[in-house]
Amino acid sequence: MDYSNLQKAEATPEAASMIETFRAIGYNLETAIADIIDNSISAKAKNIYVNRIWRGDKSIITIKDDGLGMTSEEIIQAMRPGAQNPLSERSETDLGRFGLGLKTASFSQCRKLSVLSKRQESSAAFWTWDLDYVAYSKKWELLHWIPEGFINDLDSQKSGTLVIWTDLDRIIPPCTEPTNENIKHKFSLSMDKVKKHLAMTFHRFIEDKSIKIFWCGHEIEAWNPFCIDELKTQPQPTENINSGITMKGFVLPHKNNFSTEQAYKRAEGYNGWIALQGFYVYRGKRLLLGGDWLGLFRKEEAYKLARIQIDIPNNLDSDWQIDIKKSKAYPPSIYREQLESYAKSVRKLAIEVYRHRGKIIAQRAGQSFQPLWREKKKDNKWSFIINREHLMIQNLKKLAKEKPEQAIETLLKFLEETIPTKSIYINEAQGEEHQATPLTNMDVNVIKQTLALMYKNELIIGKNQEQAKAYLKTIEPFNNYEELIDNL
Ligand SMILES: Nc1ncnc2c1ncn2[C@@H]1O[C@H](COP(=O)(O)OP(=O)(O)OP(=O)(O)O)[C@@H](O)[C@H]1O
Ligand SMILES: [Mg+2]
Repeated sequence: MDYSNLQKAEATPEAASMIETFRAIGYNLETAIADIIDNSISAKAKNIYVNRIWRGDKSIITIKDDGLGMTSEEIIQAMRPGAQNPLSERSETDLGRFGLGLKTASFSQCRKLSVLSKRQESSAAFWTWDLDYVAYSKKWELLHWIPEGFINDLDSQKSGTLVIWTDLDRIIPPCTEPTNENIKHKFSLSMDKVKKHLAMTFHRFIEDKSIKIFWCGHEIEAWNPFCIDELKTQPQPTENINSGITMKGFVLPHKNNFSTEQAYKRAEGYNGWIALQGFYVYRGKRLLLGGDWLGLFRKEEAYKLARIQIDIPNNLDSDWQIDIKKSKAYPPSIYREQLESYAKSVRKLAIEVYRHRGKIIAQRAGQSFQPLWREKKKDNKWSFIINREHLMIQNLKKLAKEKPEQAIETLLKFLEETIPTKSIYINEAQGEEHQATPLTNMDVNVIKQTLALMYKNELIIGKNQEQAKAYLKTIEPFNNYEELIDNL
């Protein structure tokens, strides 16, 4: 297209509204801080310090690293929205993509973003984005300002960067006094969540000792979703998908097979077992999203021991639709079938962990193990029946001759307490065969006899025929046999 002869009109983004829009990208505190740490890792930091200072609505969050740092000009460039083109190629270890994270992550949580940075052999420099000033001046202008008390923060380091968030209006409401214990507690809980999120998001960096993250002075321990140190974890073969993408499944041990109860609790993470099943997608070594079946399956109790690692290189960002927050990824449709079939095999093994346990318990009890409920398969349908040979049933039959009420009550109690819900659940979740329709295994003569007896008793107590029949139709399971009732 030839642009030279066309009339033009300038349509520069309006600074104040544009920058407010950045706030609405949808980060939470965890994903925002993780995005800042991405930058530290890309800048080859070895130590990263996340800190918070509680001062009511003047509270502060800081993220400091000992990476390469920036000169004053480089800070200005870094502060520019869209500092880099998302299409340009990045080094393998660069966790960035859009040239936005520093700004969007920060503005999602605060109104003032200050950056103090220092390159080796040069002095520290600083610049601040202040949303109130942008709103007032309507200009894309940084301020040469830094919150009090931080200007010398990098003096003891050769190089590094300090990101300071003040005016944390999204986390702490304006006019909050430092004495407000309620909000202080909430702030503290949010920061605890951050700690756990970082332990998971960067666990591979922490494990291979390429970085250390300190949270309020304490070193964060890695949280590995796959429990690779547990002897009874079953790692599955790695499968290559394409273009350097791989996946590897892990079936975690049954609760009783974890080395310690503490290890089991830890594996549960902060979201709980059910939430943490599914795929874990890594870009480089950085976890983008964890515990997600990527729309292929629902999360269910029965599959809670299945976790699958997917590794994608950073040059496939656009194929996987990586978002600005680095907390989403969608597999390209051409891979979905392969992901689904691999996941199915891992999920199946995860369910087997429960079946296997059932068998072990039976074996331990010896050959003569007597289950009260037996699974019955007929015409590809399953149902659970009571084992009539069970010793207790035999004994209750004898008791019924002398004390029928007590015998029936005991039987009912045992049935209530032993309904095999777990096995039913697993059968239901596997969904390969269906449950037999209730009452299809029932002898009609037994139903007729029972109905006749109950009908007679209702007439004896004074109901007329119509009333007695209407009453029987309200009683489960006879409500399914209206015709038999009408013929009484
Ligand atoms: N801690 C840091 N140390 C050194 N340089 C940094 C640091 N943080 C940011 N930068 C520089 O600022 C630039 C912009 O950062 P920003 O997070 O906004 O975008 P990005 O990391 O390039 O991409 P993305 O939007 O995907 O995060 C980075 O590319 C980097 O050059
Ligand atoms: Mg970034």
